[in-house]
Amino acid sequence: MRPFDGRRVLLVVTGGISAYKSVVVLRRLIEYGADVEVLMTEAAEQMVGAVTFGALSGRPVHRGLWEQPLAHIELGRDADAIVVAPATANILAKLATGLADDLASATLLAAAAPILVAPAMNTRMWENPATQANIEALTAAGIARVGPASGPLAEGESGPGRMEEPETILTHVGRLLERESVLLGHKVVVTAGPTLAPLDPVRFLGNRSSGRMGFALAASAWRRGAEVVVVCGPTSVDPPVGPRVVRVERADEMLEALRAELDGAAVLAMAAAVADFRAGSPSDGKLKKDDGPGLDLKLETGPDLLVETLEQRRANSVFTLGFALETEDGEANARRKLRDKGMDMVALNPAGEPDAGFDVDTNRVTIIESNDLTEELPLLAKHEVADRLLDRIEERLGGATG
Ligand code: CTP
Repeated sequence: MRPFDGRRVLLVVTGGISAYKSVVVLRRLIEYGADVEVLMTEAAEQMVGAVTFGALSGRPVHRGLWEQPLAHIELGRDADAIVVAPATANILAKLATGLADDLASATLLAAAAPILVAPAMNTRMWENPATQANIEALTAAGIARVGPASGPLAEGESGPGRMEEPETILTHVGRLLERESVLLGHKVVVTAGPTLAPLDPVRFLGNRSSGRMGFALAASAWRRGAEVVVVCGPTSVDPPVGPRVVRVERADEMLEALRAELDGAAVLAMAAAVADFRAGSPSDGKLKKDDGPGLDLKLETGPDLLVETLEQRRANSVFTLGFALETEDGEANARRKLRDKGMDMVALNPAGEPDAGFDVDTNRVTIIESNDLTEELPLLAKHEVADRLLDRIEERLGGATG
């Protein structure tokens, strides 16, 4: 089953340069199984032709207020969610003040469905107090918003104003559509990325973890309506937009952040590649190659975060998912870790496969559970692995957290 099967989404495209990215939003919505109607403003049609949206959605695009007299009432009433992408300063102003002088604004005003806006405009238009006041009013009225992101804008300037990426918009539409997830409203803590162990002020011991698996779990839990916190080590991959992000470097900092977040959590997904070893005494000054021939490093074992948080997790009944990276005796080792570290579920990663594990977009895991169930998943995109893991977690939690 696809995530949005049977759900009706109205995509409102207004006149921003990023309207071309809305074509991808439409394609993704359809791939996810949604039944999509598209509404375009006159200005949007200056950017991208209605034919493109019509061909992709397989339906005529809604355009004028007078084409069908009651379209503005029906469109907003029949949808399960409405997404305005891109949302110009103009449509935000109309929505905030209740103007209804074209099909888009009239439909939004008459809408019964939840609305998500993905603003896109020049930085100065975004920062203008008038726009900010409108945004405040929309937030107060319960209108969901994603972005704008910061970065280079079409006119050569740089700053907040870019429409968020289609994938991020999709996650936020998903959250809008979510009604049934066991995770709805519950706190999910996810760790992601590597931790670093400093050797001196400029060098460290690290690993190749990119954070992608943890970020995929965070995005999936967020889409299901959870309150998500991602505790992540240094990585060049951007965390998902939506979850709260706590940045750390060392294993002991990650432990401290976890302790602060675990009270009241329903789920912990421990996807971080926590460094097991650290320098016994990192040098205060930069280690010099002239200090001697070669370098003897004395390493000590650092904290095991799952072991250190065992009591707190038990006290809070936190369902715990961990990962196990194994080169041999995978299942036996994963089961031992499951038991010793007080996990409820472990995703066993084979080490040394080029398409699975660190720094790639795909993964192949075997799910091993404390109730003795085992499921071998095929090679999948990390976001699909994340969805499968969370489906299993939802099954296990059942009504227990409700
Ligand atoms: N983990 C942890 N603290 C550590 C090391 C690992 O909490 N210091 C967590 C990982 O996030 C993962 C699980 O424990 O969810 C298993 O990690 P893994 O590296 O496979 O196991 P280790 O316990 O480090 O054992 P080894 O490296 O000896 O196989």
